[in-house]
Amino acid sequence: MQQPIRIAPSILSADFANLGAEVRAIDAAGADYIHVDVMDGHFVPNITIGPGVVKALRPHSDKVFDVHLMIAPVDPYIEAFAEAGADIITVHAEATPHVHRTLQLIRSLGKRAGLSLNPSTPVAAVDYLIGDLDLLLVMSVNPGFGGQAFIESQLDKVAELRRRIDDTGHSIDLQIDGGINFETAPRAVTAGADVLVAGTATFTGGPDAYRTNIQRLRGNA
Ligand code: DX5
Ligand code: ZN
Repeated sequence: MQQPIRIAPSILSADFANLGAEVRAIDAAGADYIHVDVMDGHFVPNITIGPGVVKALRPHSDKVFDVHLMIAPVDPYIEAFAEAGADIITVHAEATPHVHRTLQLIRSLGKRAGLSLNPSTPVAAVDYLIGDLDLLLVMSVNPGFGGQAFIESQLDKVAELRRRIDDTGHSIDLQIDGGINFETAPRAVTAGADVLVAGTATFTGGPDAYRTNIQRLRGNA
């Protein structure tokens, strides 16, 4: 069943010179999850932050730390992100040959396990795995950068995954990430998403705008 909508600002669009203050600001503005985009310059063509930054940010918010790993290999780094304070660790289906093992590893560390699908990856990638997941992430841009245009075809993927999740009867977050703004957010929700990642749309306008931006993404303004 679709759960209440949660907003997960991606700190990729925050002021990197003031990350602690930015995390406090989005927490105070009503963010549900703090979405952390980890990129390695190998799986995706960009390099961002590592477990040391997650650890440094952890004391700045009690909200759910939602760590999106766009790295390959991924298994050698899971424990470091768990120890740094991640609550959810999401890995890419395309980034590891033994996805089931990776999800088990995340859960063995007491963390919620997420699986992300690139835009070209079919829904069948979750076959045989849905019982081992706490979150599914549909990428509605090709991962690597904030500020890209929403890929419309991913709404069908969200709808199909919504049906599959509902068939399980379990509470699995259905997250969408990339190009989410005030126009695409309601359409993603209609398709069945219940966690909206938004970088540009949250951080545009600076700290004074965060609360309104988050409310508008949630559909409450
Ligand atoms: C893309 C990242 C996203 C990104 C979203 O690789 O996973 O979380 O920051 O940025 P916007 O919301 O600007 O598309
Ligand atoms: Zn992300």
